[in-house]
Amino acid sequence: MITGTPGTGKSTVARLLSKKISFERVNISELVEKEKLFISWDKKHRTKIVDTDSLKVRLEEIAKKIDKDLIIDGHLAHFAPNDIVTHNIVLRAHPKELKKRLIKKGFQTEKIKENIEAEALDICLSEAVENYGREKVFEIDTTKRTAKEVMNIILRILLGKTRPGEFSPGQVDFLESVF
Ligand SMILES: Nc1ncnc2c1ncn2[C@@H]1O[C@H](COP(=O)(O)OP(=O)(O)OP(=O)(O)O)[C@@H](O)[C@H]1O
Ligand SMILES: [Mg+2]
Repeated sequence: MITGTPGTGKSTVARLLSKKISFERVNISELVEKEKLFISWDKKHRTKIVDTDSLKVRLEEIAKKIDKDLIIDGHLAHFAPNDIVTHNIVLRAHPKELKKRLIKKGFQTEKIKENIEAEALDICLSEAVENYGREKVFEIDTTKRTAKEVMNIILRILLGKTRPGEFSPGQVDFLESVF
């Protein structure tokens, strides 16, 4: 599972990875759209409210039905049930870099601000550790890396070829950069 704040590069890296190792890729936003797994529209945040219970059930069904390994990517990926997740990769990006990427992705100013703050506060990382425990969680700073380099780190993680603690959660700290 690849998670992280919008713009950290989940989909870019997940696409590269699924080509390289022919895992099936499931993108949470695409799944939510295709199967209409939302409850309502949040006017203030201009976003759909996802039906996370149904999302959880669907991810479990998909993982159990398919006889292939899966890469799940999305910032709501932490709704995947613990028993189907072997590795939870949290991608990080320095808020300044994230801002550039989100502008390029066409995000509105308010959304950019929200996401930069979420990134500085380690929101995705905390959710990951809370849901899956430190052992399954790996944190990669993408700021000065290419997507291919990030993909190669994930391959090393999957093969157990990283040094002890090399990508353990808690090593990235962007807090000072924003506040
Ligand atoms: N090291 C890197 N890894 C991944 N993406 C990178 C990296 N460096 C730059 N990028 C760029 O950052 C952008 C990330 O966009 P992408 O859509 O993959 O993010 P995302 O995390 O899937 O966002 P969302 O949550 O909105 O789906 C792309 O334009 C990608 O080319
Ligand atoms: Mg994406």
